[in-house]
Amino acid sequence: MPRPDMTRGRIRIAPSLLACKFERMGEEIEAVRGAGADWLHFDVMDGHFVPNISVGPLGVAAARRAAPGLVLDVHLMIAQPDRYVEEFVLAGADIVTVHVEAPHHLHRTLQAIRSRGALAGVTLNPGTPLGSIEPVLGDVDLVLVMSVNPGFGGQEFIPSALDRVREARRMMDARGPEALLEVDGGVTAGNAPALREAGADVLVAGTAVFGSPDYAGAIRKIRGE
Ligand code: DX5
Ligand code: ZN
Repeated sequence: MPRPDMTRGRIRIAPSLLACKFERMGEEIEAVRGAGADWLHFDVMDGHFVPNISVGPLGVAAARRAAPGLVLDVHLMIAQPDRYVEEFVLAGADIVTVHVEAPHHLHRTLQAIRSRGALAGVTLNPGTPLGSIEPVLGDVDLVLVMSVNPGFGGQEFIPSALDRVREARRMMDARGPEALLEVDGGVTAGNAPALREAGADVLVAGTAVFGSPDYAGAIRKIRGE
């Protein structure tokens, strides 16, 4: 798999597999690929960092096999990401994103992701000051602003997240090195225009895509076409 194109200038839509029909994950992946998805967002939850358990490296490897051409964007909501990043890279993740709130040496974990050959992302919960990611802005390929409290799909977008996206964009622009800005949680065709205007490059959408009868139409609307 070639390294993903991370240049800015176009919106990427990343359907979140948490909302897909798990018994038919391969078909669901094929369907969103055909519907115009750019990335696949894969949510990993451990029942410690968040109050829910989803899937681990085996699930990522299955998604990798089902989606050879799509960027696999793995969001780790786990308590000890440093222990597992290598496994997720080996499973086929193109991007591994870790939470600043998890108890680990953030900088070391980001270095470990990159040294294994994947792209590194950092993310933070809605209640965490944005300044907490500032020290590592030069060491990441992706910044993910959470717009719900992580743990579950299908939650309402937290309105204050819009200002945080704008502020994250400002911080990233001031910092220099190019990284993409992603938003995750409660994204819909209704709030997508404001998020794009605020500087988001990647919009994660679970329910808004997999809950729609028309995946292609949903993706087009979120993209703003
Ligand atoms: C929340 C996850 C999200 C979620 C998005 O913990 O990180 O990726 O699946 O789903 P929707 O779009 O339904 O909020
Ligand atoms: Zn996510």
